[in-house]
Amino acid sequence: MNKLFLLVFAVVVTCKTSSGQPLKNIVEDALKFSEQQSLLMAKKYASQEGRLPRTFDKGKDVSSDSRWWCSGFFPGSLWYIYENTKNPEVLSYAKLYTDRVEREKYTVDNHDVGFMLYCSFGNGLRLTGEKRYEEVLLTGARSLATRYRPKVGLIRSWDHNTEEWQYPVIIDNLMNLELLLWAAEYSGDAKLKEIAVSHADKTIQNHFRPDYSSYHVVSYDTLSGKPHLKQTHQGYSDESAWARGQGWGLYGYTYLYRETKDKRYLEQAKNIANFIINHSEMPKDFIPYWDFNVPKTAETPRDASAASLIASALIELSDYVDKGLSKKYMKVAETQVRTLASAAYTASLGENGAFILKHSTGAFPMKSEVDVPLSYADYYYLEALTRLKRKL
Ligand code: GLY
Repeated sequence: MNKLFLLVFAVVVTCKTSSGQPLKNIVEDALKFSEQQSLLMAKKYASQEGRLPRTFDKGKDVSSDSRWWCSGFFPGSLWYIYENTKNPEVLSYAKLYTDRVEREKYTVDNHDVGFMLYCSFGNGLRLTGEKRYEEVLLTGARSLATRYRPKVGLIRSWDHNTEEWQYPVIIDNLMNLELLLWAAEYSGDAKLKEIAVSHADKTIQNHFRPDYSSYHVVSYDTLSGKPHLKQTHQGYSDESAWARGQGWGLYGYTYLYRETKDKRYLEQAKNIANFIINHSEMPKDFIPYWDFNVPKTAETPRDASAASLIASALIELSDYVDKGLSKKYMKVAETQVRTLASAAYTASLGENGAFILKHSTGAFPMKSEVDVPLSYADYYYLEALTRLKRKL
């Protein structure tokens, strides 16, 4: 009996000690680990000209060239690590991998230029003031702006599947507007800001349902400028809430409020946060399944990339709301970060293809990148850690 009591006592104390660690220690340890792990990654691809890490799938490293929409995330992760550590070795790799993405400043055949350039060159400029990076970002913003059609009032996302979609715009596209807003401010070209604001406003009008969940794809009729289709591409169904898509919306309207001070964007972000946080299918650890509406079995994967993106957005949004809401957002973000930093989601050194986080889902319906590490999960996790560190 005594032995049993001691055993139970020991288990309770052990659990308390690991889950009850001060958040500051969790953040510091996570950043330290991320530095070591990401240096392994940086060394692995350094001599592979033009390559950037993408994922690690079925025991194999998967890399891409700069054309893949995720090319800016690994350089961006290195910038966040450099911001926190000031390690000169990390700085030199951040520059090396950032330069690998430069040619995307001429990309006019898809909308991902903002992801590619703002995470890499944008963070590089913020941390070093390197003049050369300004030209890359401005050229990239002008390339992105070529995809705007005034009749529709949005930037076109994709050029494929033209039999079905006249003018497809995906919720993810909100993330590209930050580059345009930077470029408008930097160059004084008001047109770039008009494009960003028009895109953000039309997305509020047409992408959201009454409960503030969002469609993934809205395709517009190019003659009337009105939506002709509302669908999914990476979610469970047309009417479902694809987890990462909800995260893109939350993150998008949070920074749109920061950059424009337009209260409508703040309200939108708060409403999206409310949908995500209070969803009946959101697990207690706040790491969502890949889609909020997918019928679940024991095998249904989570999406750590959605969790890290939502955590980072909530930490920022908590600065713009009243005390009660701020506390609520921070509690959710803290739970997410604690879970992501635990052994259930954080890899061991040298494993997981040298990615930091495990268990993300790229595109479940295509059976692509299911329950794998992804470069953007790591990027938004590092951003969340950095934002938390600034607050603690
Ligand atoms: N932007 C593509 C995705 O979230 O998978």
